[in-house]
Amino acid sequence: MHGQRNKLCTKLSSTFLRKWWITIAFAVCLIILGILVACGFSALIRHIIDHQVALRQGGQTYGWWSKPPVEPKMSVYVYNVTNADEFLNNGSKPVLDELGPYVYTQTWEKVNIIQNRNGTLSYNLKKVYIFREDLSVGSEDDVVIVPNIPMLSATSQSKHAARFLRLAMASIMDILKIKPFVEVSVGQLLWGYEDPLLKLAKDVVPKEQKLPYEEFGLMYGKNSTSPDRITIFTGVKDITKFGIIDKYNGHSYLPHWVGDDCNRLNGTDGSIFPPHLTHNRTLHIYDKDLCRLLPLVFQKEVITKGGVKGYRFTPPETVFADVETHPENMCFCPAGEGSCAPNGLFNVSLCQYDSPIMLSFPHFYLADDSLRTAVEGISPPEKEKHQLFLDVQPDMGTTLRARARIQINLAVSQVVDIKQVANFPDIIFPIMWFEDGVDHLPDEITDLMNFASTVPPMAKQVLMIAFFLLGAVLLVMAVFCLIRGSNRQSTLHLEGSNYLATAQVDLAKKKAKENKQ
Ligand SMILES: *[C@@H]1O[C@H](CO)[C@@H](O)[C@H](O)[C@H]1NC(C)=O
Ligand SMILES: *[C@@H]1O[C@H](CO)[C@@H](O)[C@H](O)[C@H]1NC(C)=O
Ligand SMILES: *[C@@H]1O[C@H](CO)[C@@H](O)[C@H](O)[C@H]1NC(C)=O
Ligand SMILES: *[C@@H]1O[C@H](CO)[C@@H](O)[C@H](O)[C@H]1NC(C)=O
Ligand SMILES: *[C@@H]1O[C@H](CO)[C@@H](O)[C@H](O)[C@H]1NC(C)=O
Ligand SMILES: *[C@@H]1O[C@H](CO)[C@@H](O)[C@H](O)[C@H]1NC(C)=O
Ligand SMILES: *[C@@H]1O[C@H](CO)[C@@H](O)[C@H](O)[C@H]1NC(C)=O
Repeated sequence: MHGQRNKLCTKLSSTFLRKWWITIAFAVCLIILGILVACGFSALIRHIIDHQVALRQGGQTYGWWSKPPVEPKMSVYVYNVTNADEFLNNGSKPVLDELGPYVYTQTWEKVNIIQNRNGTLSYNLKKVYIFREDLSVGSEDDVVIVPNIPMLSATSQSKHAARFLRLAMASIMDILKIKPFVEVSVGQLLWGYEDPLLKLAKDVVPKEQKLPYEEFGLMYGKNSTSPDRITIFTGVKDITKFGIIDKYNGHSYLPHWVGDDCNRLNGTDGSIFPPHLTHNRTLHIYDKDLCRLLPLVFQKEVITKGGVKGYRFTPPETVFADVETHPENMCFCPAGEGSCAPNGLFNVSLCQYDSPIMLSFPHFYLADDSLRTAVEGISPPEKEKHQLFLDVQPDMGTTLRARARIQINLAVSQVVDIKQVANFPDIIFPIMWFEDGVDHLPDEITDLMNFASTVPPMAKQVLMIAFFLLGAVLLVMAVFCLIRGSNRQSTLHLEGSNYLATAQVDLAKKKAKENKQ
């Protein structure tokens, strides 16, 4: 044992590293390296991720962004009115039958992409919807009875107009045989049917005030390349702005609301977010049909397909709250106090050509229950089925799974002068709700995310431990050898001084003897 250690020491100091101080220097270097890894490795990985995530032409994320390799599904649920006559003639509650889902798969593509010099790029979004009878409950040709939205919009708007105008409206509607409920197929309700009122408006109304369409459909014109020009930050210059909208059709703010806070549109489209999310970050998404920035706050950690960890973000409960419970929402109510939307509804009439459209979450989730019980046939809302959420991979800011769920309601005002709708009471009438969903990303991407989120921390641990351990072992060994070496030297020294001492003692003894004699 002793001999072995001795041998190791001689080996260390003679053959491998000639002198023990080189070993100490080396060991100290290793330990410094370990400290560097402990402090700087995460920042390095962060930097690499930021570089990889930013949208650079030819880069991998650029390809994924411009032509997302996902198959988003839109599921539509339509509220079929089964007692239209009794509702109008007998004053009973509307009885609704929720039909669906009618499922469409989508392909998204960004087209006409132009890289700007200032770290942004501009594009148009192209969407193609394909009806999937195999995934749906029912066919696109199912006939449903729903409120006549163009008509009820016109009558509700005429509430404050001159009386003769309302009477004129009534006689026009009489001639055109327009009724407060229409019988259309699900496909027509979504993608458009010819509406006599819109057709008339197109022919009669002066050019400047014209509605853009003569057909009416809730998704009319959406199955195409959108004319909206979107400019977003690529993240190349500033990763904290990655994916955030800079301009929408050339505007940095919306025109509809009161004040810049509510008119902001600097969110993302919901598929990407600036990377390195924490629990206390509020995300923002902008959607044109929502007409505002939708805030999302952290709810919980989730595991998505392929074992990828994600953060679930959902709108705060106050997002559509009324101004009494959440005064911050006052800026979304330009009409002023007294005509603000009820709790849980969002009035988008200003960006829907003044139609009295109110958005809510499906089944009036987070809204007053009185809205739901004003009609029959809507089950109580359930968080799992009706909540809007996004599951986002926090390191890269990529959305892994999404459920964008919104219900469209019509806020009908009773107008007694127009005989066709005289019996249609003031009511928030649910029309349909839809869910835009992405289930999972392709394995190729989730594998990369798993790699990016697990390997760097592990590599950091391994490198740190390896450097510290090796450094410590070498240091201990070198110090040990050093002590041994100096021990041996000092032993020699001591033996020498002992000899001297004994010699002196002997000398003294001799002297003493001589003195005695
Ligand atoms: C919708 O309701 C109407 C009236 O009750 C009914 O005739 C029709 O068949 C319903 N549509 C579907 C698809 O169930
Ligand atoms: C209207 O309501 C009355 C009772 O309130 C009922 O007797 C009558 O059958 C109803 N009419 C229709 C058409 O449902
Ligand atoms: C960047 O350049 C584009 C095109 O020139 C312009 O529309 C946009 O407003 C600019 N954005 C910023 C933040 O300067
Ligand atoms: C959308 O347009 C494509 C062609 O561009 C067509 O094949 C498809 O049927 C359309 N979808 C709907 C729902 O109309
Ligand atoms: C949007 O812009 C405002 C200032 O105009 C800023 O405070 C806010 O952080 C921005 N939001 C995002 C998501 O960048
Ligand atoms: C947000 O969370 C991070 C860590 O998760 C923390 O460092 C930071 O101080 C928090 N910020 C606020 C404003 O709470
Ligand atoms: C919705 O907003 C418009 C425009 O601000 C307003 O005129 C209308 O009264 C509002 N509707 C309801 C039902 O509050």
